[in-house]
Amino acid sequence: MKAIDIIHSEHRALAAVLQALRFLLDEIGAGRLTPDPELLGYMIEYITQVPDKLHHPKEDEVLFRILRERVPEAAGLIDKLQADHVEGARHTGQLETALARYRSEGGPAFAAFETLARGYVDAMTRHIRLEEAELLPLARKGLSATDWAEIDAAFEANRDPWSGPTGEYRALYSRIVNLVPAPYGLGG
Ligand SMILES: [Fe+2]
Ligand SMILES: [Fe+2]
Repeated sequence: MKAIDIIHSEHRALAAVLQALRFLLDEIGAGRLTPDPELLGYMIEYITQVPDKLHHPKEDEVLFRILRERVPEAAGLIDKLQADHVEGARHTGQLETALARYRSEGGPAFAAFETLARGYVDAMTRHIRLEEAELLPLARKGLSATDWAEIDAAFEANRDPWSGPTGEYRALYSRIVNLVPAPYGLGG
């Protein structure tokens, strides 16, 4: 079940950026930091690319499809998680638009971006927890070695979430880590 380890890694990488984003918003709200549009742009790019292009499609097309066939009682849970994926992609699109507005209009447009960003962080954190607590245990119990071979092959193609299948996220992830202030990153 290499796929389970890869899914945990992808969840951890995503959760780290989500927590760092929440931390930045808290620090900005408390007046200890001023918003850095460049860093926020990298973070929105990461939380758009990794879930919407890498992680959720593999869940939808392979893990959820096979689990639906093998474990019919998982259908309600899978419906909810797939609806979250659709809503998540819509939400990241709105975040990109709100950040672009803040970049062009400045100050007053930050509040709308912040509200959307906090909503996304909360929703995606709940989504990851639900998959970890309910979906993965059902998959572990209900799927065969043959099923796992197919799922493992699909997720192994993702490589790791810090670099991506062809290294395309490596520079992005390290920019985020280098710019986010301690204790979440290495920035000043
Ligand atoms: Fe998911
Ligand atoms: Fe997931």
